[in-house]
Amino acid sequence: MSNEDMAKALSQWPALDELAARLAEVWNPEFEIIDEDFAEDIRLTVFMSDANVRLPQLQLEADAWYLDGFSPAKNPELWNVELMQHVSTATKPAGSFATYSAAGAVRRNLEAAGFSVERKQGFGTKREMLTGIKPA
Ligand SMILES: C[S@@+](CC[C@H](N)C(=O)[O-])C[C@H]1O[C@@H](n2cnc3c(N)ncnc32)[C@H](O)[C@@H]1O
Repeated sequence: MSNEDMAKALSQWPALDELAARLAEVWNPEFEIIDEDFAEDIRLTVFMSDANVRLPQLQLEADAWYLDGFSPAKNPELWNVELMQHVSTATKPAGSFATYSAAGAVRRNLEAAGFSVERKQGFGTKREMLTGIKPA
């Protein structure tokens, strides 16, 4: 995505103007990975490659994840138990995840990776969602 397209997309949320301006500074449409201190208490890591390959290579300690793959039926490689284990390893103790997928396989894989998982009421068109915490 070009810097102009990125700026146009983000202009819908004026409350994010300051962060959008910072993103325009660091964004480079040719990048393979962006990994830098972005703003106070925010580290930005963006990569354009298979998460199954890249995530195990990164040293991350995330506070929270929003897992936003396509549905597990269409995109099973983004929900497999090995990848969920890498997500868990890259999460701080007491860190969390949320996802609009409520599929049983997703819940089981996140539990197998060490998260304590809850199914909750969804939002908008989504009937249910999952959230979870990594034990402290
Ligand atoms: C539902 S979209 C969400 C995208 C983004 N969160 C958004 O709101 O625009 C799912 C995304 O997962 C990406 N994806 C699918 N399989 C992937 C993989 N193995 N590794 C990394 N990304 C993947 C797709 O390219 C797509 O951009």
